Amino acid sequence: MSYVLGHSTEELERLTFQAQVLQPITLRLLQNAGIKPGMRILDLGCGAGDVAMLAGDLVGPSGFVLGIDRSPDAVELATHRASAAEQDHVRFATCAIEQFSSAEAFDMVVGRYVMVHQADVPAFIRKAASLTKPGGIIAFHEIVLLDPMVESHPVVPLWDRTGNWIVAVLRAGAPNHDAASRMLEHFANSGLPPPSLFCERPIGGGKDSSMYRWARESVRTILPHLVKLGLVQAGSEDVDTYESRLRTATVDAHSQLIGPMQIGAWVRVGGPAER
Ligand SMILES: C[S@@+](CC[C@H](N)C(=O)[O-])C[C@H]1O[C@@H](n2cnc3c(N)ncnc32)[C@H](O)[C@@H]1O
Repeated sequence: MSYVLGHSTEELERLTFQAQVLQPITLRLLQNAGIKPGMRILDLGCGAGDVAMLAGDLVGPSGFVLGIDRSPDAVELATHRASAAEQDHVRFATCAIEQFSSAEAFDMVVGRYVMVHQADVPAFIRKAASLTKPGGIIAFHEIVLLDPMVESHPVVPLWDRTGNWIVAVLRAGAPNHDAASRMLEHFANSGLPPPSLFCERPIGGGKDSSMYRWARESVRTILPHLVKLGLVQAGSEDVDTYESRLRTATVDAHSQLIGPMQIGAWVRVGGPAER
């Protein structure tokens, strides 16, 4: 099953901007899960490499991070970015998760925004667990794609509609769009212990919020899908002005924008901890 949003330059740009919004939440997940200097980390579905590079900062040069993705374009960009950041211990490889194997196991296997795209989520979780050392950790950061996905108080219709559109596209194109809201069920079906969980939501407003650009870049990527689904007429939505229209509407209304729920889930798998 291919990744519904593709790997155009725009989508890869969107992923790197989105990563800035998500970084504090992913950081808390990795810290809660017990990431330490010197660890060996595997990032499943690495995209443009942001989670792998964040993990690379946390494990330091005595550690090692490998990010894998089935998209050669994503892996090329991730490799270039890690090299520009002089992270020699962060590497990337083009590979489907299902096909991946490694002679040496990992202390921690992570994945962000990748579970919803898997046809068989329990098999995906088992695969992640199979790549860890005894006592290793698996950790996932996923987005809850339930309606309504976002909120605004007072209501900003453009923001609320953006959330509805994203849910519609991912419901149609991601095989397990509701995976984040069913973590315990998926872990139980994978035969692993229940994970520790937390939930956070990005929140913003005012003229400098990152929410506006996040919305604009998301709409730019999903627009062709919205047209195909018959939710938007071709040529009727001006993406170039989306960010400024949303900013003006939000600032004028003194609104507080609440983003999608983010779930962190992690568990130690197998025997005793090695570190
Ligand atoms: C939404 S992007 C997330 C990228 C990155 N984890 C992040 O948070 O910025 C999902 C990525 O997972 C990759 N992916 C999804 N399923 C995959 C699979 N079965 N094998 C390899 N890559 C996969 C896609 O190619 C895509 O680049």
